[in-house]
Amino acid sequence: MLKIINIVGARPNFMKITPIMQEMRKFPGQINPILVHTEQHYDENMSKLFFRDLELPQPDIYLGVGSGTHAEQTAKIMIEFEKVLTKEQPDLVVVVGDVNSTIACALTAVKLHIPVAHVEAGLRSFDRNMPEEINRILTDAISDYLFTTEPDAEINLFAEGKKKEQIFFVGNVMIDTLLRNKTKADASTVLAGLKLKPREYALLTLHRPENVDNQAKLTNILTAIEEVARHIRVAFPIHPRTRKNLAIDSSILKNPNIISTEPLGYLDFLKLTSDAKLVLTDSGGIQEETTILGVPCLTLRNNTERPVTVTQGTNRVVGTNAQKIIEEVKKTLNETRIEGKIPKYWDGKAAQRIVQTFIR
Ligand code: UD1
Repeated sequence: MLKIINIVGARPNFMKITPIMQEMRKFPGQINPILVHTEQHYDENMSKLFFRDLELPQPDIYLGVGSGTHAEQTAKIMIEFEKVLTKEQPDLVVVVGDVNSTIACALTAVKLHIPVAHVEAGLRSFDRNMPEEINRILTDAISDYLFTTEPDAEINLFAEGKKKEQIFFVGNVMIDTLLRNKTKADASTVLAGLKLKPREYALLTLHRPENVDNQAKLTNILTAIEEVARHIRVAFPIHPRTRKNLAIDSSILKNPNIISTEPLGYLDFLKLTSDAKLVLTDSGGIQEETTILGVPCLTLRNNTERPVTVTQGTNRVVGTNAQKIIEEVKKTLNETRIEGKIPKYWDGKAAQRIVQTFIR
């Protein structure tokens, strides 16, 4: 019997681990899956809502880590997770994505000689100012199994000296979750609640430290958004990091064409994305979700670690210059809907491919 510890910590982890846990549960005689939540994210709407929406069973173990500086958060996770590993003695630890919980748990496990599997390996923005880029490089450097979502990831891993035998191109577990929940999300009443009509609004998300922790940059992006709001209404669920950095009297919060909300649950957010005319975002995962949904995505960053969303999907990397953002939005509003291609293996079966690797 394989005892496998699966890690979640921050919001984008929940939708990635859900299909993996579900698949592991199909092999009760062979796999004993355990779910550990570091609680890097702990708010109702950053964490608990997702367990309900995704029907992800409650974690077996909580680490109670919470917020902090990078060193504090990473160190606290390592201290608490080491105790769990020593007690549970698992055969494998599965980590997903690129958040602080990912590297902290991977590093703790390898030091105890426990193999690690990294789901979403090999993505690179080649921008080491992003905390996620450091987390990705380090996690891949110490993982035994590297599960990739797109062909470029393998090229990046080879360039870092990884061996063919460790790399498994399995597809995208986040898309497994999207495809499974699309019908349920279609029934969400979020649009009516926010008084929005399908294809008559743009959806905005912002949370990257390089965009929202720098006041000048944040103001510059929001100035562009106010101009965009003269052409189309803008729905804006606000991440806690961004909320902290917005002045209480920020004009963005008073603009009647900008509908700001607390962070939304998975199903409401999926509905809001599906029905948007376009999406403006600095998130990684949303670039992939819009590609599957065929919704134009303008990425407010200078790079992407997910190039397949540009070469095959509906994503355009437009940067953060206000004029450029406004131009790209106008261009997109005048276009008929672009239907990107669906990248290989983004077919709902990625988790199945991952789990087969462990039991074959
Ligand atoms: C983290 C991830 C990022 C991911 C994002 C998704 C890292 C380095 N970054 O960034 O890759 O895209 O999650 O959301 O791991 N806070 C709350 N409630 C919560 C959690 C956080 O209010 O439940 C506030 C805290 O004040 C905290 C701040 O948000 O200081 C930032 O949280 P943190 O986990 O440090 O990073 P994120 O910006 O959320």
